[in-house]
Amino acid sequence: MYKIKKLAFGTDHSATEIRDKVKNYLQSIGYEIEDFGFNGNTSCDYPDFALKVAKAILSKRADKGILICGTGIGMSIAANKIKGVIAATCWDKNTAKLAAQHNGASIICLGSRTATLDDICYRIKIFLETQFEERHSKRIKKIKEIEKKY
Ligand code: RB5
Repeated sequence: MYKIKKLAFGTDHSATEIRDKVKNYLQSIGYEIEDFGFNGNTSCDYPDFALKVAKAILSKRADKGILICGTGIGMSIAANKIKGVIAATCWDKNTAKLAAQHNGASIICLGSRTATLDDICYRIKIFLETQFEERHSKRIKKIKEIEKKY
């Protein structure tokens, strides 16, 4: 079975305390990570990192993307502006699973201020281990048609 290996990773300043811990965890369970920032200690703007991670997915430089901001909302709004990308903010393990299984999301967005480190790691793991179910592909096709038309 195909296993996702390469991950594109991006955070804003809200995740400064947890970003290395999340990366270490993902590496410890076998994933390769390319970190697109933010790597500083000051304040930054989450759309900059959403764009970099989304581009890495579109160019197939990475298989899946991880974006963390304060809530996961800003990152998903920004990433979803890029044509061809499906990003989902996931609030628990169930939404993490369904975002992959039903929505075909290629990027999971999480909130550093709305979830614990353990929850964030667990949601990412579930998201990465869940396969898309083909029966939902007609809906994804419709989303892509909307994207083209409007
Ligand atoms: C930054 O303070 C905060 O607005 C950002 O991390 C995020 O929560 C936006 O959705």
